[in-house]
Amino acid sequence: MPTLCLLVLMLCSAYFISCCTDHERNCLHFLAGLSQDGHGGLAASWRHGTDCCSWEGITCSSTVGKAATITDILLASKKLEGSISPSLGSLPGLQRLNLSHNSLSGGLPADIMSSGSIVILDISFNLLNGDLQDSPSSSSASGRRIQVINVSSNSFSGRFPSSSWEKMENLLVLNASNNSFTGPMPSFLICIRSSSFAVLDISYNHFSGDVPPEIGNCSSLRLLKAGHNNLSGTVPDELFNATSLEHLSFPANDLHGVLDGAAIIKLRNLVVLDLGFNIFSGNIPDSIGRLKRLEEIHLNHNSMAGELAPALGSCTNLKALNLGSNYFSGELGKVNFSKLSGLKSLHVSYNSFTGTIPESIYTCSNLNALQLSFNKFHGQLSFRIANLKSLTYLSLAENSFTNISNTLQILKSSRNLTTLLIGGNFRDEEISDDKTVDGFENLKVLAMENCPLFGNIPIWISKLKNLEMLFLFNNYLSGSIPVWVSILNSLFYLDLANNSLSGEIPAELTEMPMLRSERVTSHLDIKILELPVYTGPSPKYFTVSDFPAVMILENNNLTGVIPTEIGQLKSLLSLILGSNNLHGEISETILDLTNLEILDLSNNHLTGTIPADLNNLNFLSELNVSNNDLQGPVPTGGHLDTFPRSSFDGNPRLCGHMLDQDCDDPVIVDVPQGSSRQGGYKAIFVIAFGAFFGVGVFTNLSITPKPDKNGFKSLRDIPQTRFH
Ligand SMILES: *[C@@H]1O[C@H](CO)[C@@H](O)[C@H](O)[C@H]1NC(C)=O
Ligand SMILES: *[C@@H]1O[C@H](CO)[C@@H](O)[C@H](O)[C@H]1NC(C)=O
Ligand SMILES: *[C@@H]1O[C@H](CO)[C@@H](O)[C@H](O)[C@H]1NC(C)=O
Ligand SMILES: *[C@@H]1O[C@H](CO)[C@@H](O)[C@H](O)[C@H]1NC(C)=O
Ligand SMILES: *[C@@H]1O[C@H](CO)[C@@H](O)[C@H](O)[C@H]1NC(C)=O
Ligand SMILES: *[C@@H]1O[C@H](CO)[C@@H](O)[C@H](O)[C@H]1NC(C)=O
Ligand SMILES: *[C@@H]1O[C@H](CO)[C@@H](O)[C@H](O)[C@H]1NC(C)=O
Ligand SMILES: *[C@@H]1O[C@H](CO)[C@@H](O)[C@H](O)[C@H]1NC(C)=O
Ligand SMILES: *[C@@H]1O[C@H](CO)[C@@H](O)[C@H](O)[C@H]1NC(C)=O
Ligand SMILES: *[C@@H]1O[C@H](CO)[C@@H](O)[C@H](O)[C@H]1NC(C)=O
Ligand SMILES: *[C@@H]1O[C@H](CO)[C@@H](O)[C@H](O)[C@H]1NC(C)=O
Ligand SMILES: *[C@@H]1O[C@H](CO)[C@@H](O)[C@H](O)[C@H]1NC(C)=O
Repeated sequence: MPTLCLLVLMLCSAYFISCCTDHERNCLHFLAGLSQDGHGGLAASWRHGTDCCSWEGITCSSTVGKAATITDILLASKKLEGSISPSLGSLPGLQRLNLSHNSLSGGLPADIMSSGSIVILDISFNLLNGDLQDSPSSSSASGRRIQVINVSSNSFSGRFPSSSWEKMENLLVLNASNNSFTGPMPSFLICIRSSSFAVLDISYNHFSGDVPPEIGNCSSLRLLKAGHNNLSGTVPDELFNATSLEHLSFPANDLHGVLDGAAIIKLRNLVVLDLGFNIFSGNIPDSIGRLKRLEEIHLNHNSMAGELAPALGSCTNLKALNLGSNYFSGELGKVNFSKLSGLKSLHVSYNSFTGTIPESIYTCSNLNALQLSFNKFHGQLSFRIANLKSLTYLSLAENSFTNISNTLQILKSSRNLTTLLIGGNFRDEEISDDKTVDGFENLKVLAMENCPLFGNIPIWISKLKNLEMLFLFNNYLSGSIPVWVSILNSLFYLDLANNSLSGEIPAELTEMPMLRSERVTSHLDIKILELPVYTGPSPKYFTVSDFPAVMILENNNLTGVIPTEIGQLKSLLSLILGSNNLHGEISETILDLTNLEILDLSNNHLTGTIPADLNNLNFLSELNVSNNDLQGPVPTGGHLDTFPRSSFDGNPRLCGHMLDQDCDDPVIVDVPQGSSRQGGYKAIFVIAFGAFFGVGVFTNLSITPKPDKNGFKSLRDIPQTRFH
């Protein structure tokens, strides 16, 4: 519509209103085509023949009497799709370009990176890919004014172009995190060009090789995040020349070496030090106590050893200390915690600490999460732990603590406690059915497994209205499964395996509200508890909300038949009833468990046939009905064919080609059951509470290693909780 345009232009000059030029409008034109908003929003605002300075998201400079020029294009979260046109790079006055949180694809045109006017460029959270190209070396204006580049959370790959940003003498912030960049870490020549370069985030990429020593020349660098890459070698001495650093973070790489005390004190402004998930060795240097601004130390999942530096007790601003999964030893009490009044999270699990819990910890009244599991602590819990009024997560598992009655009496009044993991202690003690234990009103996860404990399943558990997960396996608990389990409205994970429970499976168990619902809803605060779950040898991550609904009753002395109402537990993913004394037939109602992934009924006395429609359970990936008294054909067709012979073995009257037993053969002999019940106690879920995750007291504290990342190689040093 050339005439309309002309008209607008004439109006503009006549009334001295600032309008954008034809050239600029043409540059922008493509944007309207990216909008997926339909008729509303952008498309409505961006009409032909109107002044583009009035378009939504566009700002122009308004010098009266002059043609306006576009300065800002702010179109974050506008559902834009398609590719970015190079024409944006030729808008002469464009200073701010923000296209974040759209679905833009294709590459980033080199003309934009080399624009002579852009100051802030944010194209984060799109679907952009390809290499970032070096700008043509001829353009001397190239990126001269740019201060902020955010290309994070896209799919860029290839090497990071170094020559273009060496010209960027005003660069302050570069965020290239969460892409697939490869090659060496970007060169730090930039710090010679731009002496105020302050923020570099290249985490979650595939950068490899050494950390470049040139980093030491970045005298204004405040934040350096390079975690979750493939960096190797040691941290170069020169890095400690970058004395403005406040945040230094290299988690989940392949770095080694020791923390040099003389070097680290040079970083006197350090607030966050995160070197977790590497292979650092040696101990914590005493000089760390002189870093007075330190708020977070994460050295978890390394190979560090020795006794703790008492000087840690002088880091008076400390909020999080994470030393989990190393080889530290000696008394935790080497550190006097009484000056660390701001401490919120203390994580020293999976080490070799000895002695008792130091009394000084009980003065840290802001402590939110205390993780002491898998060490060699002993003694009784002090009543002073009640001072920790904010405590939500307490893990004492796999130590040598004693006196469970005392422990429960002390902790019951910790009102904010949501997770209590105390298994692997209290060896051979009796759990009293103590009616005076009440409290724990906010408990969501209770684990008292593997002690082993004697006694009945205590009735006070019935009062834990918020309980979502209960782990009592590997004890000597006796008596029957209490019918009150059905009134625990939130419970969806029940593991009572390997006890001496007897009697029938109560029909009430099939009334469990959470297991009957279509979907399990957890109210666990994801920041407080993240559970990595290992299904078989390879870890599989569940967010808390999709943590599986599970009922594990195997290896007990349960009798009677499987209640036919079992089919009501719609949300069950695993039903494990193996190694009991169950008899009767496999009820057809089991076919109603449409979400089932694992079904184990092995080592019982079940009779009758295998329901042919088991094939309809689409998600079933593990089946074990071996060592029963089943008969008739193994259902064929569908995915049942993929299960190994061992799923069906030990049922002499079952037939099918898989068992080399022709179903038409009239002589199916009645062999006495030869198999023994040695309790093939298979690893199904191995859970290590908080082993991988710092308990995220702070929002960005929890790290989620990529499945192929280094983090997992550290599995070797983790004696996992065998939650089976
Ligand atoms: C871009 O816009 C988004 C959404 O408004 C905002 O969160 C972000 O901070 C902006 N980027 C810059 C660099 O200002
Ligand atoms: C991109 O990074 C810049 C600089 O760190 C920041 O100001 C901006 O908010 C980020 N954009 C988004 C969408 O988070
Ligand atoms: C970089 O961007 C990511 C999102 O893509 C964000 O999570 C991160 O905090 C940013 N880094 C900095 C230093 O702002
Ligand atoms: C990484 O990018 C993906 C895709 O944009 C996004 O879903 C995810 O939240 C990002 N991760 C981080 C840590 O910002
Ligand atoms: C730091 O910069 C100086 C020049 O300003 C240079 O001589 C020196 O080699 C640089 N150091 C490193 C480690 O690059
Ligand atoms: C990581 O770097 C090492 C060499 O340091 C290399 O052998 C390995 O293939 C790299 N791994 C990935 C996933 O890039
Ligand atoms: C930087 O560090 C190196 C090695 O630690 C040292 O030799 C050098 O003098 C330092 N440079 C400056 C400018 O401080
Ligand atoms: C810890 O320090 C406090 C003073 O800050 C002191 O009163 C207390 O005795 C010390 N505790 C130990 C075990 O040294
Ligand atoms: C206990 O939890 C409640 C609710 O989450 C919170 O309001 C309260 O401040 C907490 N108490 C302490 C001492 O942290
Ligand atoms: C266990 O603790 C209780 C106090 O709760 C105490 O009365 C009892 O003596 C303790 N038992 C042992 C063996 O120390
Ligand atoms: C069953 O529990 C007991 C007691 O904790 C333990 O000794 C035994 O190893 C467990 N059995 C299996 C197969 O895990
Ligand atoms: C299992 O129960 C039967 C009777 O129901 C009893 O005779 C047997 O001793 C029990 N076995 C165990 C190991 O508790």
